[in-house]
Amino acid sequence: MDYGFILEAFWFILPAYVANMAATDVSVLPFLKKFNQPIDGGVKWHGTRLLGEGKTWRGLVFGVLAGVLAGWIQSMYHTQAAGLVSSLLSEPVNLPVMTITLAFMISLGALTGDLIASFGKRRIGLESGSLAPLLDQLDYIIGAFIFSWFVVEPDIEMFGVIVLMTIPLHLFANLAAWLLRIKKVPW
Ligand code: CTP
Ligand code: MG
Repeated sequence: MDYGFILEAFWFILPAYVANMAATDVSVLPFLKKFNQPIDGGVKWHGTRLLGEGKTWRGLVFGVLAGVLAGWIQSMYHTQAAGLVSSLLSEPVNLPVMTITLAFMISLGALTGDLIASFGKRRIGLESGSLAPLLDQLDYIIGAFIFSWFVVEPDIEMFGVIVLMTIPLHLFANLAAWLLRIKKVPW
């Protein structure tokens, strides 16, 4: 198994993980309650909400901010992080270069993917917060990858690795958030 490549893929997609987690996790912060407005403004289409109460401006704005912050930290500590993982694995690990622009596109893409999936879930009659296997885990990864294209060349092999590692990581992170009572449902 090529652990170096897995770490490179993780480094690339990290702003998307942070953005997606922050969008959910900031919902527990009481002082952000006033930004809790739904993005769809309550609008319905054929009797069903466009997106639902679960997709808020608070999640979108603070998710993108958190993803950009993560990318900024990554850009500052690129050399140290690359040195650390290279020495741990005793092989050169070429962590992708992270920039604020790339982190912004990855974070915005992640949360846009999440919104598009939410829109799709409402259209097929799934309620807010209901389970949509694979879609829930991969919507934001696909969005992040597509938006990253505006800034960097796509690496399809890396995308494949990201998809494979996201499914268990996502399930584990959401289970943890549920146990900590941040999320209402364990998915
Ligand atoms: N969240 C938010 N704004 C976003 C995304 C997420 O406020 N743009 C918060 C909401 O509190 C939401 C929670 O994170 O309930 C969990 O997000 P997610 O599982 O993506 O949304 P669901 O509520 O499951 O809605 P959907 O069925 O539309 O996916
Ligand atoms: Mg959900």
